Amino acid sequence: MTSMLHARRVIAVATFATASLACASEPALGPLDIDTPALMPAEAKALRNPIPYTRNSIERGRELFAYHGCGACHGIEGKAASAPGLDHGTDLAQPGAWKFGTVEGQVFRSIRDGAAVGMPPMKAVIPWEEDVWHLVNFVRSLWPEGQRPVVKQED
Ligand code: HEC
Repeated sequence: MTSMLHARRVIAVATFATASLACASEPALGPLDIDTPALMPAEAKALRNPIPYTRNSIERGRELFAYHGCGACHGIEGKAASAPGLDHGTDLAQPGAWKFGTVEGQVFRSIRDGAAVGMPPMKAVIPWEEDVWHLVNFVRSLWPEGQRPVVKQED
């Protein structure tokens, strides 16, 4: 009995250690494809953007926004001026009206895994999480002054 309890505790400790290891080493910079499991909302909210909010990152995000056709639904400047016949995307410049959260990890999740029915999961076409983070930085740069982060100087 004692040894069984002991064995259980060893398993519990081992499971905990593996889980926290996975958590600590969670880079959110891995490769992506359509089969990448969707993040749970709480898990996403806890993610921190590993890519600093710099001019270079915002510019990279701007290029990706154009390249992946986000503007077709969200407008060229993210202001929801959608083309006729296309799904009308959220006004990305008005975070106060957003439904899926404006914490950086939540924005990452909306872009990576999609949001509701209209927002396609970009993990199907963007091969690296790093680029999703650049998009997060670009999208946040569209917010009104005072709501957007302060640009970090490059090293
Ligand atoms: C096919 C049209 C379409 C494309 C392409 C598209 N979106 Fe969306 N997006 C939507 C729609 C529609 C919603 C709103 C979903 C809802 O509220 O039900 C949305 C929601 C979002 C949200 C969440 C806003 C909230 O309310 O929390 C973000 C962030 C976002 N899109 C960013 C992007 C980015 C960045 C790209 C390009 C990489 C992109 N979208 C491409 C249609 C699109």
